[in-house]
Amino acid sequence: MNSIELKNLTVRYREGIAIENINLEIHHPSFVTIMGPNGAGKTTLLKAIMGMVPYEGEIKIMGKNPKEGKKVIGYLPQRERINTNVPVTVKDVVLMPLVSNVRGVKKEHVDKAKEVLKMVNMIGYWNRRFDALSGGQQQRILFARTLVTDPDILILDEPFSATDVKTKTSLIHLLHSFKKEKTILIVIHDINPLVECTDYVLLLKKKVLGFGMVKDVITEKNMERLYGTRVPVIKTPETCYVVGGDRHV
Ligand SMILES: Nc1ncnc2c1ncn2[C@@H]1O[C@H](COP(=O)(O)OP(=O)(O)OP(=O)(O)O)[C@@H](O)[C@H]1O
Ligand SMILES: [Mg+2]
Repeated sequence: MNSIELKNLTVRYREGIAIENINLEIHHPSFVTIMGPNGAGKTTLLKAIMGMVPYEGEIKIMGKNPKEGKKVIGYLPQRERINTNVPVTVKDVVLMPLVSNVRGVKKEHVDKAKEVLKMVNMIGYWNRRFDALSGGQQQRILFARTLVTDPDILILDEPFSATDVKTKTSLIHLLHSFKKEKTILIVIHDINPLVECTDYVLLLKKKVLGFGMVKDVITEKNMERLYGTRVPVIKTPETCYVVGGDRHV
């Protein structure tokens, strides 16, 4: 079964076309890593899949349209806007996708929120103010929040931007453990820590420049087409690693 199907997907902003004629079939479950330079349309593609921006073409999520299909998606945006004028606690943030107001919180919601906070090693922060945490700690809480609804599909837009090596490694480990049950779409600038988990790489620069297995798609030729500069690639018998690459975070 396909978790995501895109046919002739185009998104236009007033300034021009952000993504053009994207055709894609993503099998469920699978781990898809999306790469591309700044402004390539990566965030736009993810938003279109969830029906958050007007689009042309056809989108199916688990066979349904984005409005219906997005219920099975856990989304971690590139930049999160949590209103910190009010003192929101960690538990409030994680419970957000489950309940619309505090009075609707049930024991099963609390249990689930605690379970996902344990997964990201943040259970000790349950009653802490979200805005008083460090950037990396906030990122782990937001990661937990994407898991709280048990989504079939995880969509993560540069999820490791504020995390240190240890946090990043443990989050990747966690993602690896979901590989057999979820479709994971992850936008990342440095693919190296993900080459072992990645089933397919999508190279995006307004259009799809490549889609396939790491060893087939991560080539010096493709990296140069993608980034417009020479990027060395190291090949091992099993896979490939990018040297340098495009890292704006
Ligand atoms: N809400 C918007 N309104 C108008 N133009 C937009 C909007 N969002 C993005 N764009 C434009 O669409 C293009 C693609 O932007 P997008 O954010 O999808 O790129 P990206 O690949 O995610 O980049 P980055 O790596 O910097 O996150 C850019 O030229 C951007 O200026
Ligand atoms: Mg982006």
